[in-house]
Amino acid sequence: MTLTAEQRPVPSLPHWNQTPEDIAAAVREIKRALRARIEAHGRTVEQAFAAVEERVWARIAEIDADRERGEEIWPVLDYDAIAAGTVSPAERAKLEQRGCLVVRGHFPHEQARAWDRDIVDYVERNEFFETYTGPGDDFFGSVGSKPEIYPVYWSQAQMRARQSDRMATVQSFLNSFWKHTDDEGTQWFDPDRDALYPDRIRRRPPGTDSSGLGTHCDPGTLDLRMTQEYQRAFRHLFSGQVERYDPWDPAHRTDGPQYPGSTMCSAFRTFQGWTALSDMDADQGVLHTVPIPEVMAYLLLRPLLPDVPEDSMCGVRPNQVFPVTKRWHPVLYRALTPIPDVRAGDSVWWHCDMIHSVAPVENQKGWGNVMYIPAAPWCPRNEKYAADVREAFTTGSSPSDFPEEHYERSWNGRFTLDQLNETGRRGLGLPRRPDSTTVM
Ligand SMILES: [Fe+2]
Repeated sequence: MTLTAEQRPVPSLPHWNQTPEDIAAAVREIKRALRARIEAHGRTVEQAFAAVEERVWARIAEIDADRERGEEIWPVLDYDAIAAGTVSPAERAKLEQRGCLVVRGHFPHEQARAWDRDIVDYVERNEFFETYTGPGDDFFGSVGSKPEIYPVYWSQAQMRARQSDRMATVQSFLNSFWKHTDDEGTQWFDPDRDALYPDRIRRRPPGTDSSGLGTHCDPGTLDLRMTQEYQRAFRHLFSGQVERYDPWDPAHRTDGPQYPGSTMCSAFRTFQGWTALSDMDADQGVLHTVPIPEVMAYLLLRPLLPDVPEDSMCGVRPNQVFPVTKRWHPVLYRALTPIPDVRAGDSVWWHCDMIHSVAPVENQKGWGNVMYIPAAPWCPRNEKYAADVREAFTTGSSPSDFPEEHYERSWNGRFTLDQLNETGRRGLGLPRRPDSTTVM
């Protein structure tokens, strides 16, 4: 008797909830298992991948068409429209389609410029440039003797932005694009509570020559295919039912382990983001994305095709950022798009799975200054990391996702516990102040 695809037993996937010791053997094993699982659902890997390609190609065609019409590829919204709830259905649809956003006037221009000056004052007062010993990792590199990325986490400017109502408004808006509560009523994260993920500052001076940062994505490395939680999160891809894959479904992503490494992000971020502290033109070495949120489907299935060596995941290794290369993913480059010109006070956001890069620049015009502030909503994974964040905040240390540089421990003018408002306290997992009247 021949069994139909529905009747055949579906093989389960082996999983490694810590980095496997023999990586090549584990890669071979998971690739065999993924192919068997996809085939048990009635499709070859080639057929499943072709369906993904078709979906991605449709997105690329839409981007090409917008480009030809001279339309902005990146969605752009005014902060005031987000705050007033007047974003139109068409604007929402474009954001969902592109997975990225520029928020104009997220903060008043002068406010952002003042924050930039505050940061300079903070680092100079504390003799940062005299004591700086070089990059703690080689993830971004540095330019000349002064750093480009400042390992500074606890300035007044950063914390005031992180705990501001304006930031909370945009984060809630962006989180609302995700299916944070599923049809069974499981809430995967709280869209209206951010976990205050501390990240660094970039200040790139005029005249900079920078080689930029290659195309990559942030959410993980080999763990994206190897931990049980990620296998559940990407269940539709790993069963070949790629049409059912939804890049806005956070199910099983907001808990579970990640493989350690200097490039890891312990938090679940719905969107990565930064707030501009200087005006930046789109041709001055700025952020680019492949504005296709479902591109993770392409990246995760591509290594299963027969032209990729059996022990290779298209260059993905633990402890190195997930690379996207012309060798394995050439078609995706066609969609690579810079942000539009931005001004100090605008913010820039991109779906956590999206491919992005920073373009090279020679003799940069003007400053290129940003504070990295993502949307990292409250969920088990972020609650767990919040304990590390609280400790780092209290002692002025570098958070545990970052190199152990700890410059700010002895600095004057650091943001302090008593300066936290209720949003900041909630973000750090601290109890409400007894005298507070704010509704939680
Ligand atoms: Fe990145």
